[in-house]
Order: sequence, then structure tokens, then C-alpha cells
Amino acid sequence: MPPEHVRAFGPGRVNLIGEHTDYNGGLALPFAISQGVLVDATAVEDLVIRAHALDLGEEFAFAVSQREREHGWRAFVIGMAAELEALGVDVGGANLSIGGDLPRGAGLSSSAALEVALCLALLALAGVDAEEPGRLELARVCARVENEWVGAQTGLLDQLASLFGEPDAALLIDFATLELEPVPLRLGGWRLVVLDSAQRHEHAGGGYNERRAECARACELLGVQTLSEARVSAAAQLPEPLAQRARHVLSENERVRAAVSALRDGDLPELGVLLNSSHASLRDDFEISTDAVEATVARLRAAGAAGARIIGGGFGGCVLGLFAPGERPPRDAIEVRPAPGARLLAS
Ligand code: GLA
Repeated sequence: MPPEHVRAFGPGRVNLIGEHTDYNGGLALPFAISQGVLVDATAVEDLVIRAHALDLGEEFAFAVSQREREHGWRAFVIGMAAELEALGVDVGGANLSIGGDLPRGAGLSSSAALEVALCLALLALAGVDAEEPGRLELARVCARVENEWVGAQTGLLDQLASLFGEPDAALLIDFATLELEPVPLRLGGWRLVVLDSAQRHEHAGGGYNERRAECARACELLGVQTLSEARVSAAAQLPEPLAQRARHVLSENERVRAAVSALRDGDLPELGVLLNSSHASLRDDFEISTDAVEATVARLRAAGAAGARIIGGGFGGCVLGLFAPGERPPRDAIEVRPAPGARLLAS
């Protein structure tokens, strides 16, 4: 018998390095964090899903068979029910209460955390073991919800980080093959923190989709499937701004490789240097920084950060800072460390 009540947790993520590389067939090094979205779900008799977003104080209800479009957080819930049904899951009626401790639109992947928590909750109520379709397939389902129902053309980075997170390790993801390799994150006394720029973003309809379209256009002109396959010399011949977009992707892949080596060597000062050069590339070549983000980077560096960079899709959100032992991050910064991936909690 499927359970009548479940609680599913989808963690947010911090991407250590490798930004805007996922939809370009490149490399990234994210980790799941302990903050996330919690969905408390109770099965009901009628085929209606009633959802309540605790932080917004908003509620709505829809018939499980409904396929009408909605906006904002409602699009995630309707989209998840529809995509799970398309996968062959018999989604039933449910009361969903959505909470947690992850700020929305802050670059910590609140969208994927919500998708993943909804996905695990609805699967469990339907009596389906998440390991049956497998986590890679679930990451694809979650990404489809975001691409097709929410309208943000995001890649798979956030969903993979949330579903496959491990304590004490970052995940090296190769988006050309979807191979995942845990890389131990031994920080010693060093600390990673995020500091909120207080500027909120929404990727559906924002500059994110525009960057993605630019990368697709660059691929067309170069005759490659993904930008990561492009030769540096060929990419340099593209018209602007496509040449600088490609330069970011190709140089960022190199920085991910260098960051993995630095972590394996325990060379955290070198990791700091790489975070700074990633930020410069995202600011100057990929052009996704803003005044509020720059001010936040400056605050972290003034506080003594060995490295600081914008994380996530850009145009606002949080900035990541790396601090050596003894240095003091700003008081409003939140410490982050690798935490386990998405899971059902005891109910
Ligand atoms: C957002 C998207 C991801 C990825 C990052 C940038 O978080 O959801 O797919 O593209 O931006 O690295």
C-alpha cells in the first residue's frame, strides 16, 4: 500500500565553479546544501491536488488531469503532475504544503529544489520507488517541468546537484556524457559562504534565455553540437557578442578542471584565484553581473575573501565567497557546505 503521508526534501545547491556550461556540454562542480524545499504531502480521495506555498501564503487547487498553463510556483506543481503522468505514474489527489528555508530567486536553485521535492513526494504517494525510474531520469523530468511548464530554458545542473548531492563532496559533472564523479571537498579550516545581493531574478523571460539563445546561435555558426566542442581559434572568429560568450564557456571548462586539481592537491588559495577569474569571465565575457552583484563581490573581498564570484544563472542572486582560516566573512553571509541529496524524510 502506498503511504498516505510523506515528506520530501529537495536541497538547494551551490555551484563551486562551472557556470553556464551545463547547456553547453561542458563541466561543472556543484554541491547540494543543507537548505532546501520541504513538501509535506497527504493523499486524498478525489483526483484534485491542493497546494499551499507557506512562504507566500498562497493556495490553489487543480484537477490532476488539468493541463492548463499557470504562472509562478503554480506552474511547477501542475507541470510536475503532468510530466509524472506522461512517465506512466498514476498521480493521485493530494494536499501539498510547500515550505523550507531556501530563498527564491537567490541563485541557490530554489526552482530545482521545489521540482525535486514535488517529484519525490508525488512519486512516493503513487507508491513508486524513485530509484525505479532512477535519479538521472528524474532530473530530466524536473528539467522538463522547468523548460516546458515554467518557461526557463535551464540545463540539468541544478536538478543533478539536488538529486545526487553527497556530504563532504562536490560533484564533477560532465554534461557531454552526464557522467558524475564526487570530488572530496576538504576545506580544512577554510569556509565557503554565500552573501545575498538582494536582487531577485526569474529565469523565465529574463536574460538567461537570451544567453542560451546566443550560445545556440554560436553553435550554428561554428557547425558544432555544443560550444564545449568548439576550437578556441574558431570561436574567436565569431561576431560579437558570440565570441565572448564562447570564450567564457571554453575558459570556464578549463577552470573547472583546474579547480578539481586544486581540490585534489588541497590548494585552497588556488581555488580562490579560480573563483575570481570565473567571476571576471561571467562579468566581462558572459555579461550576467549587475551593480548589486558587483557591490556584493566587493563586500566579500573587502572582508578578506580569497575568492568571490556570482553563482547560478546570474542577473542577481547570491555571491559565493571563500575565506581562509582566521578571516571573518560579513555577518549576514551564510556558511554553506556539501550536504546529502534529495530524499524522503520520516513522516
Ligand atoms: C541556472 C540554471 C542552470 C545553469 C546555471 C548557470 O541555475 O538552472 O541550468 O545553467 O543557471 O550555470
